[in-house]
Amino acid sequence: MTTSLYRLYGRRKGRPLRVRKNQLMMDLLPAVKIDLVDEKPIDPSKFFNPAPSKIWLEIGFGGGEHLAAQAKRHPTIGFIGCEPFVNGVASLLDHMEREHLSNVRIFPDDARLLLDVLPTATIDRCFILFADPWPKGRHASRRFIGSETLSRLGQIIKKDGDVRLATDDPSLTDWIRGAFHKDEHFKRGEDSTQCPTDWVSTRYEQKAIKAGRHPVYMRYIRL
Ligand SMILES: C[S@@+](CC[C@H](N)C(=O)[O-])C[C@H]1O[C@@H](n2cnc3c(N)ncnc32)[C@H](O)[C@@H]1O
Repeated sequence: MTTSLYRLYGRRKGRPLRVRKNQLMMDLLPAVKIDLVDEKPIDPSKFFNPAPSKIWLEIGFGGGEHLAAQAKRHPTIGFIGCEPFVNGVASLLDHMEREHLSNVRIFPDDARLLLDVLPTATIDRCFILFADPWPKGRHASRRFIGSETLSRLGQIIKKDGDVRLATDDPSLTDWIRGAFHKDEHFKRGEDSTQCPTDWVSTRYEQKAIKAGRHPVYMRYIRL
């Protein structure tokens, strides 16, 4: 774990990993893990060989099913996934091995640490799907989207690149719209209860729909 100025409120560990996932954490993770080094900023295209046509980032990939499916569909794009929850990281490694994905790199920690060291205009697309909603008003400052993260995303995302978001929590929907509205880097793109045509559903999303919640899918475009 990286020493951090940021406080992470979600959990880092769940149930003990089964043998196979434990093995993947030991054998595969070291080969695909992004380490923060002293030299900054870190050029993300160097993580991939061959150099990718584009770089897409997913923040809080959960079980990794969305990231793995996108990586399979787009083999020339380099994918970086950030997730501090160990069981989620092990699950993505499992997808990577089963699907033979060589275009995925993992930052197994708080995404803000990576955002701080990525150079200006190096990311083509960022996904933030079903971020922890922290629905209680007094916990709102724990939400990932805020003026500081948007300002960093505004720096690292290329012109005409985008941020794609989804949430099933109405208070977070309003919060996201408000935060992007205040930010100077992005203009509003699609905002709909219909998912995009290239959508990959996750377990989290399916559970939300089953429970009667209505996800909203949003896109913001870098000016
Ligand atoms: C509600 S889950 C959604 C997971 C996934 N995106 C999905 O749709 O299934 C939110 C995820 O964000 C992760 N997360 C929370 N704070 C984070 C941070 N600062 N950096 C990266 N991931 C974070 C959590 O560990 C959790 O896996």
